[in-house]
Amino acid sequence: MDLPRPEMFDFHGVHMTHYFTDNWEKVQNFKARPNDIVVATYPKSGTTWVSYILDLLHFRQTDAERENTVPLDERVPFLEFFMPSLYTPGTEMADMLSTTPRIIKTHLPVQFMPKSFWEQSCRIVYVARNAKDNVVSYFHFDCTEKIQPEPGDWKSFLQRFKDGKMVFGSWYDHVCGWWEKKQMYSNIHYMFFEDLVEDTGREIRGLCSFLGLSPSEDEREKIRGAVQFDVMKANPLTNLEDDTTLDFSISQFMRKGKVGDWKNHFTVAQNEQFDEHYKQMMKNATLQFRTEI
Ligand code: A3P
Repeated sequence: MDLPRPEMFDFHGVHMTHYFTDNWEKVQNFKARPNDIVVATYPKSGTTWVSYILDLLHFRQTDAERENTVPLDERVPFLEFFMPSLYTPGTEMADMLSTTPRIIKTHLPVQFMPKSFWEQSCRIVYVARNAKDNVVSYFHFDCTEKIQPEPGDWKSFLQRFKDGKMVFGSWYDHVCGWWEKKQMYSNIHYMFFEDLVEDTGREIRGLCSFLGLSPSEDEREKIRGAVQFDVMKANPLTNLEDDTTLDFSISQFMRKGKVGDWKNHFTVAQNEQFDEHYKQMMKNATLQFRTEI
C-alpha cells in the first residue's frame, strides 16, 4: 500500500505524528474502567510480547476460539492510534471490547496518560528495553512501517534518537518519566525486555503476582511456550501479518528478538559517543539497563 510518510511535529514538547494526535480529545477523555490493564511502553520495547502474555493469561482457557482467530492488535487496542481510513480508532476499539478485563496498549509518555486511568487506579504494566537495542529495533521498524516518518540512514536515525526527535519523543524521558511515576503509584509493574529474554517463565510469574492471578504450573508453562519468539513469529495473529501498512519485504514485525543486536549496527565510534551521551542523559542512577545478558 502506497502511503505518504507523515511529518513529525512538536506536540506539547514531544515529537509526534498526526496518527497519534488527531483523536486527542477522545484519548484524553477516555473512560477507563477499574479493572482495565494497560501495557505502556516506548515503541519497540516488547509491547506485543507482553500484550500477548497478558491476553493469554486472562483468556487462553476461557476463549480458545478468540485466541485462534482474532489478531492480537484487535484483542489489545492501541489507545491513541487514529487512522480512520483503514482502522477503527483505538478509543472506539477499546470501548467496544466486551472482555473483562480490557487490555489496552499505549506508547504515551507518562504525562500524556488520560487521567481516568489514575482515577480508576488501573493496573499498568510498563515494559522498558535498553536504549541501544531499542534504537536498532526502531530503525528497522521505521524502514518497514509506512506510516512512520522517513527513517533516513542509520547514522542520522541514531542521532535523531539521541536528540529525542522520535515519534513518542525521547527514550530517556519516556523510561525515566514512567520510572519516577512508579515510585509514587503502586499499580505500576515496571519490567525489562532483557529480563523477559533471560527468563520468560520468571517474568510471567512476576506478572501473575502483580495481577493476582494463579494459573497452574502447567498452564503457565503452556503460555511460556506460546510466547517464544519463533512461535509468535510463525503465528500470523501475533506477527501482525494482517497489518497492511507494514512492508514485510523489508522486515518481519517479529524481527530478531535478541538482546545485543546493537553490536551488529553500532560502529566503535558510535558506541563510544552513545555511552558518553547516555551518561549525560541518564541522571537517575536507580534505573539500570543491561545491553547484554
Ligand atoms: P527486534 O526488532 O529487536 O526483533 P514492540 O512490540 O514494542 O513493537 O517490540 C517489538 C520488538 O520486540 C521486536 O524486536 C520484536 O522482535 C521483539 N519481540 C516481540 N515478541 C518477542 C518474543 N516473543 N521474544 C523476543 N522478542 C520479541
